[in-house]
Amino acid sequence: MIEVQRDGAVQVVRLNRPSKKNALTGEMYEALAGALEAGNTDEGIRAHLLLGVPGAFTSGNDIGDFLGFAMSGGGMQDAPVVRFLRALAQCDKPMVAGVDGLAIGVGTTLLFHCDMVFASPRAVFRTPFLDLGLVPEAGASLLAPRAMGHARAFELLCLGEPFDSVQAKAAGFVNHIVSEEELEPRALAAAQAIAAKPAEAMRLSRALLVGDRTELRARMEEEIRLFSERLASDEARAAFTAFMDRARPAG
Ligand code: COA
Repeated sequence: MIEVQRDGAVQVVRLNRPSKKNALTGEMYEALAGALEAGNTDEGIRAHLLLGVPGAFTSGNDIGDFLGFAMSGGGMQDAPVVRFLRALAQCDKPMVAGVDGLAIGVGTTLLFHCDMVFASPRAVFRTPFLDLGLVPEAGASLLAPRAMGHARAFELLCLGEPFDSVQAKAAGFVNHIVSEEELEPRALAAAQAIAAKPAEAMRLSRALLVGDRTELRARMEEEIRLFSERLASDEARAAFTAFMDRARPAG
């Protein structure tokens, strides 16, 4: 479900669970976190490239897993998703993403950690956290207002309004809109260009642009604490159950 390959010095990480629109499970988060963490110590990896499948980058966290957390009543401090979120915030190598189609929930918020994002014209960015009784995650409550200003971030994160590629580019978290056919070659070429730069100069420069990550890490932990509490709320349970019932075939 997560395929990790090398193309030269680029680590290509593909989300591949098309039957569920690439909804992310604990096992997938573990694999994603492992790939990002490996990049921090493996000098052979100079850039990460994150890709989905045609029409789906990801539909976000698997809602069945959310329901599992909600019913167990346990926190999610040690959950694979949290390992992945921390790996995103601690990633030392440039990340490029190619988004075709759905980018829901963490599929959008992870992009705020990426250095370059390519999107197809049919990409849709949506974070329905509030409709699920939840709060934003992945540091988005800090990074999105920084990128696009409070008003647009509110619309995206609190109202759950979908942004298309043009809006996402205008909001500053998509670099280029390219056709579905060109998406992966263009994103790979960008990752290769990054990987071809002098490695130490790239490491230092990216670290300067990212800046001090203390505030980001603290915000992320606060989000995780609230998100974890919200998962067990009546609002969240009702929303997860409604989705799972909707998904169940009639009869
Ligand atoms: N978690 C679990 N399963 C999911 C999923 C998710 N996040 N997103 C999609 N799926 C499943 C559907 O249940 C369905 O499974 P089934 O074929 O066994 O019934 C399959 O993937 C295809 O999805 P479907 O809803 O039929 O496709 P669609 O094109 O009509 O709609 C979405 C796609 C993504 C818009 C819709 O599935 C959706 O809203 N998913 C939830 C997104 C979400 O809220 N994510 C969490 C963000 S915090």
